[in-house]
Amino acid sequence: MSRLVVVSNRVTLPDEARAGGLAVALRAALAEHGGLWFGWSGKRVRQTSGEMHLRTEGNTRYAVMDLSQRDFDDYYNGFANRSLWPLLHFRMDLVDYSRETYAGYRRVNALFADRLVPELRPGDVIWIHDYHLIPLAQRLRERGIGNRIGFFLHVPMPSSDLLAALPHHRELFAALSSYDLVGFQTRRDLERFQDYVRLFGDGRVIDDGVLETADGRRFRGGAFPIGIDVPTIAGQAGRAMKRLAVRRLQDSLAGRALAIGVDRLDYSKGLPERFRAFERHLERHADQGGRITFLQIAPPSRSDVPEYQALRRELETLSGHINSGHAVPDWTPVRYVNRSFAHDVLTGFYRTADIALVTPLRDGMNLVAKEYVASQDAEDPGVLVLSRFAGAAQELPDALQVNPYDLDGVADAIAEAHAMPLAERRRRWRGMMDRISTYDIHAWRRDFLETLGTA
Ligand code: UDP
Ligand code: G6P
Repeated sequence: MSRLVVVSNRVTLPDEARAGGLAVALRAALAEHGGLWFGWSGKRVRQTSGEMHLRTEGNTRYAVMDLSQRDFDDYYNGFANRSLWPLLHFRMDLVDYSRETYAGYRRVNALFADRLVPELRPGDVIWIHDYHLIPLAQRLRERGIGNRIGFFLHVPMPSSDLLAALPHHRELFAALSSYDLVGFQTRRDLERFQDYVRLFGDGRVIDDGVLETADGRRFRGGAFPIGIDVPTIAGQAGRAMKRLAVRRLQDSLAGRALAIGVDRLDYSKGLPERFRAFERHLERHADQGGRITFLQIAPPSRSDVPEYQALRRELETLSGHINSGHAVPDWTPVRYVNRSFAHDVLTGFYRTADIALVTPLRDGMNLVAKEYVASQDAEDPGVLVLSRFAGAAQELPDALQVNPYDLDGVADAIAEAHAMPLAERRRRWRGMMDRISTYDIHAWRRDFLETLGTA
């Protein structure tokens, strides 16, 4: 079996807790297979020493490097998170582009290549992840690396017209043809990329899985919806019910139902809309008023980026506004918690919640939706209210699907979830559980690597 080399900007070291789907998923994917995980240490330093930090734990070896403050600003806070992240989430209005940060992005991709090459062996299969590292295969090829290289995009691929609005889009997206296989979360993402290749990349779609660039280079594209480790999460959720944090949450509800949201504090997650929809529920369904408490866990993310700072201020105002308008002496409708929780504690919170509100405006997949399902008690499962703009919606038709922009619709879905009979809750949950158990994180990894092996 060839060695697997996973490369991502974000790496979770063994003793770290990290909010973010990529880190959670790759940790689970590597747990079974083993390999090398290469990326950024998460640390910024005044001047990089050029040294890699190495560590081995079980079957996984970690090699991480620090970034200089300038690289962190230009590459991570700049081009990756102020140009590409909003663009790929259909938010042209928030794209802040500058040639300087794009140069930083290219510089750091070249730095990743320089540092990775000495770690590589001839038979390694290299699997590069997410929007931070689109040009990395091209940089590796320039350095003589002939190994199989795959790429997986964890975030959505937007309409080609949006992509074409990014300066230098051709140079950036043509770099994807240096991979042998490019994977997306859903078929729609793949189709939108195929449109881009045809309409703006001067390339061709040879057949469903094979694309050809203007200069005749062929590579494969495919849809590989990322999953979770279902038995591990189900087991954690059962055990977590005994934990103090979970028992205290249950006690604090005083018999009321709990609706939960768990998201990085990110504008793609539709949090202001969700808060307003919950308020709308209080107004439209006064008969249920006071019977549901909404807990939103939202750990701060990318907090140097101005758009994230603005969102944080907006949510503070909004939660205060809803609570002051609807609270009574012994109950406040919204509990807004700005910190992160360990993954296994979260599974206990999910199991405690009667309703999950997963209503992003756009999301590549959304693992929280799947984790909520996996954490439920089969005898008395909760209801998932899910945005149709999350990748997970393709696989979970049994969720109560909503349009997150339609506040009345979300408010009504909360009411429907609260009133849903047990038999319907069980039927919907069974359908979702079957799907996430069949195509789980290990099936995802095997499917991608087998396809890469034949690409
Ligand atoms: N998560 C966590 N602690 C927190 C909040 C989130 O471990 O306090 C995890 C969550 O359980 C999930 C991941 O972070 O595994 C978020 O992944 P998702 O795909 O939902 O969204 P992303 O953050 O990748 O956009
Ligand atoms: C999303 C992205 C990941 C990223 C994660 C957390 O899931 O697709 O690439 O790691 O968010 O964001 P952060 O900026 O903290 O790595």
